[in-house]
Amino acid sequence: MKKTIALVTGDGSGPEMMVVACAIAIEAAKKDDIEIIFEETPMGWNAYHQFGDTLPKESLERAIEIGTIFFGGVGDFKNDSTIGKEKPEMKPEARALLTLRKRMGLLLNFRPMIYYKALAHLANVKPEMISDKGIQQIWIRFLLQDSYFGNANFLEHSLPNTNSWNVAQLWGIKPKSDVSLNDDIVSDLAYYRKETIEKYFRAAFSYARAKGLPLISIDKANVMARYDYWRKIATRIGKEEFSDVPLTHQLVDSANALLFTPEKLHGVIACGNEHGDILSDGAAAALGSMGMMCSSAINPDTGAAMFESGAGTAPTLAGQNKANPLGRILTAAMMLRHIGAEKGASAIENAVRTVLINGYRTIDLVSGREQPEALLGTEEMGYEVLSCL
Ligand code: IPM
Ligand code: MG
Repeated sequence: MKKTIALVTGDGSGPEMMVVACAIAIEAAKKDDIEIIFEETPMGWNAYHQFGDTLPKESLERAIEIGTIFFGGVGDFKNDSTIGKEKPEMKPEARALLTLRKRMGLLLNFRPMIYYKALAHLANVKPEMISDKGIQQIWIRFLLQDSYFGNANFLEHSLPNTNSWNVAQLWGIKPKSDVSLNDDIVSDLAYYRKETIEKYFRAAFSYARAKGLPLISIDKANVMARYDYWRKIATRIGKEEFSDVPLTHQLVDSANALLFTPEKLHGVIACGNEHGDILSDGAAAALGSMGMMCSSAINPDTGAAMFESGAGTAPTLAGQNKANPLGRILTAAMMLRHIGAEKGASAIENAVRTVLINGYRTIDLVSGREQPEALLGTEEMGYEVLSCL
């Protein structure tokens, strides 16, 4: 079977990491008799230099049409501070990434935290906090709405009525690129819609049930209306439809403190868009390295999906063959599982584990406490994984 996937190689070290991750994905999918065909749909500052837009219309429409995207990350501070100063609306994180999330309805953002014993020297968690069974911590971030889509770039279809716009403008809801020091008040409207929260929790509960894990829901219900609402909906759906799945609630500030006692966050973790952005980086750093983070974003109704490691583009390492490709490679494994290449997905995950056990490291995985077997570049690390498949 052939499977076409839209490819955004991205900015910074993205292209170096993606070349490696794509080669591994193609090879691994052969185990399931799937031939992956990557079709480039350029986005980010690299696309700006080629086509004058960080989100060329053709790329956007074609990527949406294909429906499965392997996304290498966009944005780098050099272009942000030059072109981005004059044309802030072109900054690609919001322009490309958020537009794709919104247009494709990518509600569920899976960020499973994988703890590697071989990387214990990097973890910020005391070893005695990690039981022999390891860590099961699967974050499912609600990837739409909230404060992310609450400025005028994204609200246009959500607030169609002229009166609401007058109120919105009074409160300083404007496109991010229009914000200036002349403003007296600037807001992002943080909102959640009932039907979307319900859909989200049904998916999160089902996932927890399938995995035999409890659901931990994170909120700020003690002070904020939208999280009080979030907690009420979670509780109702849990009680009425998923009484077999244990549900607990955790305030976001205390959840943050629990990142360092991971057995207390054992389970599937449901959290809002902004909370999930912040906490998932913290969880990844607590358990090892940001460079190992893998991530997928899924529309539970259509199956449209984007696979992007949430770990940035490592712009300071760009062009030096130094960035850690393992987050992208593990993200490729999630992508393979999504397209039905289960054998390939497991082969990649096992290969990464083996390479780490064998002591191979990229620069970000080395700390003073460990003498690596070999310090590898991006390409060489990819080659090691490939040869372990
Ligand atoms: C992430 C990233 C993005 C986000 C940025 C690049 C817009 O940090 O996927 O976690 O905030 O969602
Ligand atoms: Mg983030």
